[in-house]
Amino acid sequence: MARLVVNPHHKMGHINKDIYGHFAEHLGRCIYEGLYVGEDSPIPNKNGMRTDVVEALKEMKIPVLRWPGGCFADEYHWMDGIGPKESRKRMVNTHWGGVVEDNSFGTHEYFELCDQLGCDTYVNLNLGSGTVQEMSEWIEYMTFEGDSPMANLRRKNGREEPWKIKYVGVGNENWGCGGNMTPEHYANEYRRYQTYVRDYRTEEEKKEGIKPGIKKICCGANVDDYGWTEGVLETCFAGYPRPKTGHMDGLSLHYYVHPEGWKIKGSATDFDEEVWYKTLAKALYTEKLIERHGTIMDKYDPKKKIGMIVDEWGNWFKVEPGTNPGFLYQQNTMRDALVAGIHLNVFNKHCDRVKMANIAQMVNVLQAVILTEGEKMIKTPTYYVFHMYRFHQDAELVESSIESEKIGADKWQVPNLQESASVAEDGTINITVNNLSADTDSPVELFLTDTEIHEIKAEIVTNEMHAMNTFENPDVVTEVPFTEFKQENGKVSFVLPACSVMHIAVK
Ligand code: AHR
Repeated sequence: MARLVVNPHHKMGHINKDIYGHFAEHLGRCIYEGLYVGEDSPIPNKNGMRTDVVEALKEMKIPVLRWPGGCFADEYHWMDGIGPKESRKRMVNTHWGGVVEDNSFGTHEYFELCDQLGCDTYVNLNLGSGTVQEMSEWIEYMTFEGDSPMANLRRKNGREEPWKIKYVGVGNENWGCGGNMTPEHYANEYRRYQTYVRDYRTEEEKKEGIKPGIKKICCGANVDDYGWTEGVLETCFAGYPRPKTGHMDGLSLHYYVHPEGWKIKGSATDFDEEVWYKTLAKALYTEKLIERHGTIMDKYDPKKKIGMIVDEWGNWFKVEPGTNPGFLYQQNTMRDALVAGIHLNVFNKHCDRVKMANIAQMVNVLQAVILTEGEKMIKTPTYYVFHMYRFHQDAELVESSIESEKIGADKWQVPNLQESASVAEDGTINITVNNLSADTDSPVELFLTDTEIHEIKAEIVTNEMHAMNTFENPDVVTEVPFTEFKQENGKVSFVLPACSVMHIAVK
């Protein structure tokens, strides 16, 4: 019997809801078809946004959406995506399949989507191939309330009020697709570009004393490139002249799980037990990355004012046979559910440093929560994990631990159980626990320190490791209620099935 111990009285930090964030790039069928079908589409839509997808994402409680890329962001020229659609400039999307981008989804459409989703905004700016002027005019276009050329252009295009931006990314992967820069070169560019991300508060906000609000995210490392983290922070913080504090609110980190290596990638659906454990071991590695990059950040930012922003994470497999290799379309199985559950528990436990994370990507690309085909839509196993974990959003992380044993294959050993726990504003204790074993159920005994249990409810996502939803069978993997708890002498026990992700709510 594994002991799962939760002390709801020992608070460890605030779980920023944005840890549950998403990412939508102009890539494959993510934006076009997946989210945006245009007003004239026979697929039910509101102002061009698919109603079925928007509803599903709202139910999942999406907190924030990163756009327009990824690699696309450093090639995106925002002026091409405003004004009458018929006269918008077309471009070749060189990164992703070489298809023609007609720019029918641009700034206005992005804010309309976020408005329909009820989520916050994260706009990734172009540092790689755009000018400082272009970038600063985009900020003015989006956020300036007064009488100015860009604000008036926005009005001419049909939007009177400025929009709210919560985060901007100042470039993306500038060590690679965003310009192949050295850390020192990028850091100097970052210092320059971020200066012109002007913070235009509205008159009302000024009256209310609301502080300038756009949070600026600096491009961080790929996986274990600690030299990048060190080099960028050194130039940003310790260089001469020393910039004023407040020029950086976040530093990004990108980490994709490629169980069989970047070159081979491996199939999303056809894998054996060894690859199952390899995948989960690589998902758990995210914790090492957070700790090691975090140690470097601590040197420059001991008070942890700068958030670690894991704005691209998830499984990256081979594309589905017969699909465009540049579209990164992959299926999603119980393995993806476990990878999502593992990452989210790790992010929760490191909420002192991790302030946002954005799974890549939201619809039809990589580890998507939703897949579409024509008018059909399915929710993936990953969707249900996000749905169950939504209770952690803006809750207080509390102390928890679970006894586990090592399982898996030689080099790729993993603990069989993993958990995190938080307390919501209404006092509900939310525990999420994963059984990483492909075939062995695990009896668990739950102990809540100095707490009387009045009510216990749970949901679970569980199935055989290859199980997935398809357009023909959309409900093979779903979230179902779990009621098999035994309560005796103040102790609660249950059997956590093999290959499962569970959410328990205790009142
Ligand atoms: O998510 C797909 C791509 O992966 C992004 O465009 C890029 O930032 C990363 O390399």
